Amino acid sequence: MRSVIKGIGSYLPEHVLTNEELSKKVETSDAWIRERTGIGQRHVAAEGEFTSDLGIAAAKAALLDAGMDAQDIDLIVVATTTPDYTFPSTATIIQEGLGIHHGAAFDIQAVCSGFIYGMTVVDSLLKTGTAKNALLIGAETFSRILDWEDRTTCVLFGDGAGAMVMSASEDEAETAGVMNTFVRSDGAHCKLLYVDGGPSRTQTVGHVRMVGNQVFKYAVKDISAAMTACAEGAGVSIDDVNWFVPHQANQRILNGVAKRLKLRPEQVISTVEFHANTSAASVPLAMDTAVKDGRIKRGDLVMLEAFGGGFTWGAALFRY
Ligand code: ACO
Repeated sequence: MRSVIKGIGSYLPEHVLTNEELSKKVETSDAWIRERTGIGQRHVAAEGEFTSDLGIAAAKAALLDAGMDAQDIDLIVVATTTPDYTFPSTATIIQEGLGIHHGAAFDIQAVCSGFIYGMTVVDSLLKTGTAKNALLIGAETFSRILDWEDRTTCVLFGDGAGAMVMSASEDEAETAGVMNTFVRSDGAHCKLLYVDGGPSRTQTVGHVRMVGNQVFKYAVKDISAAMTACAEGAGVSIDDVNWFVPHQANQRILNGVAKRLKLRPEQVISTVEFHANTSAASVPLAMDTAVKDGRIKRGDLVMLEAFGGGFTWGAALFRY
């Protein structure tokens, strides 16, 4: 039994905020942002547009791509740090939005690594027979937890959603599906990247706080180690992998990892210029971009990887 990826889809809010526009609000410049991060623009959700709305749109696109109906789905897992409410989960709101009244739905919180954590959980639940057809969604409205006066963080993030339909399959187990996932965390450095609010501590939502240069240092090292361990666990070499789909935090992190693992730049999918960092949504958004533009094809060996607040990090390997 393997968990195979039946379809993928994504959604970006209509409004695009360019670096130029941002530099009118805070003391920054297009040149600084591009040089330090590779980011050129980000999408920002409209007033009245919520994380669940982005997730529903991405889920519908993934179902269409899979040629499946919402009623086929018996598990919804949503990776998000920007839920609609403290509770209920955004997953149940998406479930209702898709007209599904059976199966189970829940959120997971691993910040930017959420999609990798989600794939690990969905893979386990499909392989043990708990569910047959799952929607794994990464959806974020990070614009809502940014301090728009803090130039060290507000230039980095954007809103969006990506979704995959994953199904338990015995027939395709030889030729497709998840081969291994690898997840790790370490709370020792939680204050290097966190949100300074929450229901229990402050009864507020809070804003993103980050010591960027410190995060950078850990990210390159830990991601590279996770990718190597994930490949080894599946019995393949990094050289066998066709495509790498990283969390889109910063082009310099992507380049640092590529250099360390001797990856060819053209194998590394980068959407950071257009989407910025959409946290848990960034990996499926990048993957969908590369599937739709014809780079990633059925049968290709694909590795996802991410690093985020916690710290949390991980990698996932599958044959698409
Ligand atoms: N515009 C202009 N200048 C700025 C800006 C800005 N937007 N932001 C900071 N600066 C200034 C700083 O004040 C500093 O000035 P100083 O030298 O006069 O003190 C200077 O630029 C350099 O600042 P650094 O923080 O050292 O810059 P660095 O090269 O490290 O780049 C960045 C900052 C882009 C944040 C980088 O450290 C980074 O990308 N880090 C990793 C971020 C990341 O990966 N996050 C992970 C996931 S996010 C998640 O999980 C939610």
